[in-house]
Amino acid sequence: MKILLTGGNGQLGRCLQDRFPADWQISVTTSSDLDIGDAAAVERAVLAFQPDAIINAAAYTAVDKAESEPENSARVNSAGPENLARAARLIGARLVHVSTDYVFDGTAQRPYQETDNTSPVCVYGRTKLEGEKRVQELLPDAVILRTAWVFSEYGSNFVKTMLRLGEQRDALSIVSDQLGCPTYAGDIAQAIIVLLQQSAAGGIYHYCGDQQATWYDFAEQIFIQATQQGRLAKAPQLTAINTEAFPTPAQRPAYSVLDCSKVQHYGVKLSDWQKALSAVVAES
Ligand SMILES: NC(=O)c1ccc[n+]([C@@H]2O[C@H](COP(=O)([O-])OP(=O)(O)OC[C@H]3O[C@@H](n4cnc5c(N)ncnc54)[C@H](OP(=O)(O)O)[C@@H]3O)[C@@H](O)[C@H]2O)c1
Repeated sequence: MKILLTGGNGQLGRCLQDRFPADWQISVTTSSDLDIGDAAAVERAVLAFQPDAIINAAAYTAVDKAESEPENSARVNSAGPENLARAARLIGARLVHVSTDYVFDGTAQRPYQETDNTSPVCVYGRTKLEGEKRVQELLPDAVILRTAWVFSEYGSNFVKTMLRLGEQRDALSIVSDQLGCPTYAGDIAQAIIVLLQQSAAGGIYHYCGDQQATWYDFAEQIFIQATQQGRLAKAPQLTAINTEAFPTPAQRPAYSVLDCSKVQHYGVKLSDWQKALSAVVAES
């Protein structure tokens, strides 16, 4: 299979490169050689390589910064996927586009299904939702994979931030009233590969970790791993705080657990994030 990958330097982009089957032909692009917000550049790259599928791992992921840079966020998260969908349609290629749990407002009482109403509460979520809609309009055959709370051995993420802060401070306050599902980027990469191998039907799919947690729970697990592995001599003292005590420019959904039943029909395994966390802490 011929794959054009965007966002090759991101967490997911790098995990995909580690996992692609050896007989797949991959054209890896990064933000410096293919800006997905540039429609003409996207079309040129797609026409030149003639991929069977495009995987969009590129995104504007700075959730707080997006509040003051809505145009940049929209250019990458809304226009970017639109440009990729247009180019894919030109040559009859498939598109796998990655989206987010932040398309929801977090008021649900049970895990979100793919068909539930969306109502993002921040610029990042709104621009990602717009990207989904443009992809669906142009290319109903596209696979849109919504995921959440992504971490890996690459780039910057909550695990790396906690490990850094744990080295610098004796005590940390962590938000304990937002509930979601941590997800290892390597498992998302594997899920995408399986969906392409299985020629999954177009549509939205949810994919995240197999156990829910608050940021506080997640931090606790990180420090358990870090001390058990000797990465930290002593875990910092953790204090659970409410979202109001940790104001951020972007509002986040209080609850963003995703119901992942649909994707499991293709034999995709949910992310065993606790197992992955142990390896990520060891490698970080
Ligand atoms: N991280 C999370 O917690 C999370 C949660 C839910 C969903 N997601 C979704 O999961 C997907 C993968 O996220 P990730 O964590 O792997 O993100 P990431 O590590 O931030 O990587 C995103 C990549 O996109 C690239 N990029 C930014 N603007 C671009 C542009 N105009 N053209 C081409 N590339 C561009 C970035 O390049 P530069 O480094 O050069 O800017 C970066 O390498 C995204 O769709 C994201 O929205 C992530």
